[in-house]
Amino acid sequence: MAPADPILGVTEAFVADQSPKKVNLGVGVYTDDNGKIPLLECVRHAESERLKNSPARGYLPIDGLKAYDQAVQELVFGSQNKNIVTVQALGGTGGLKIGADFLKVINPEAQVWISDPSWENHRQLFEQAGFKVNSYRYYDAKTHGLDFAGMKESLNAIPAGAIVVLHSCCHNPTGVDLTNEQWTEVLEIVTSRGLVPFLDLAYQGFADGLDADAFAARLFATGTSPVFLSSSFSKSFSLYGERVGALSVVTSSPEEATRVLSQVKRIVRTNYSNPPTHGSQIVATVLANSQLRNLWDRELGAMRDRIKEMRKQLVESIHSRVPDSDFGFVLKQRGMFSYSGLSKDQVRRLREEKSIYTIDTGRICVAALTSKNVDYVADAIAEVIR
Ligand code: LMR
Repeated sequence: MAPADPILGVTEAFVADQSPKKVNLGVGVYTDDNGKIPLLECVRHAESERLKNSPARGYLPIDGLKAYDQAVQELVFGSQNKNIVTVQALGGTGGLKIGADFLKVINPEAQVWISDPSWENHRQLFEQAGFKVNSYRYYDAKTHGLDFAGMKESLNAIPAGAIVVLHSCCHNPTGVDLTNEQWTEVLEIVTSRGLVPFLDLAYQGFADGLDADAFAARLFATGTSPVFLSSSFSKSFSLYGERVGALSVVTSSPEEATRVLSQVKRIVRTNYSNPPTHGSQIVATVLANSQLRNLWDRELGAMRDRIKEMRKQLVESIHSRVPDSDFGFVLKQRGMFSYSGLSKDQVRRLREEKSIYTIDTGRICVAALTSKNVDYVADAIAEVIR
């Protein structure tokens, strides 16, 4: 019997819970203030246009919808580039897995380094692809911030050719990001040591905005090659179940890009043949239409702002209940998550006594807090930390 998934297993437990008060702060899913996953207006428009034409559902090319791949490249890297290969993938996870499988083919002896801590699925995914997975220092539990000196020290000790998984923005699970200056230093280490960076960009637009959050991706794309990058529209388009993501590989020449594409296509073909039509069509339609694209930008901005507001309300509510507590660090964390510092036992009590579900590590999805449940959650946290 395999263990339950550390993130999606929490959703399974939440669904089985009969309590009317239950709150799911486990999986990274944004809800509106009514606790519902939104269907964005830009998506609704694109979808109704698409349905009017009753499109047939033939196979997409192995590497996905061309207009989608091009739109992803522009959004992530700022413009299209013949040195960059972008293929549609099944969510960000799919992009990681195609990249991992490809890397295993071209460099079977390489090992992988992920941040400590990292998204729970990074380790499992790269291990399933056949890699040994190690970790580099990242989070400082004492300061609730980045251990940048430790990170650099770890990266400087990694052997050439190794794969380093980096979170481009909104680090999952900690919400602790690098500054632009720190990214420049990391790029220097990566190039001087000959490491292969694999950037995970699942939350573009959730920290400061679409362009600002692409800083690391664009810096690396112009600063070194190869660069692997998985991206996702699950969160930014609220299209979780459509599995719309991509893998991009920055190569050193158009000729190399053609060869890489041919290899990546073999990986896709032998995994799931070709990707699904609906989600990529919606995203490509929105990104190609300036009105819809502006609407998306505003809707994404509203999600970002609501999350920040929830961070504020949570911190204030806990503080008013436990005046000597200091959750101020939650305001500095970015994206959907807060690494709350709650212990495994406190997490268990929240679940068993209050039907509040979080990840065992204490990661809570602040994007699922609402004006209706934040006081209940703050009460519960106050109770378990007292
Ligand atoms: C998360 O970290 O909760 C999300 O990325 C969803 C997932 O697939 O784990």
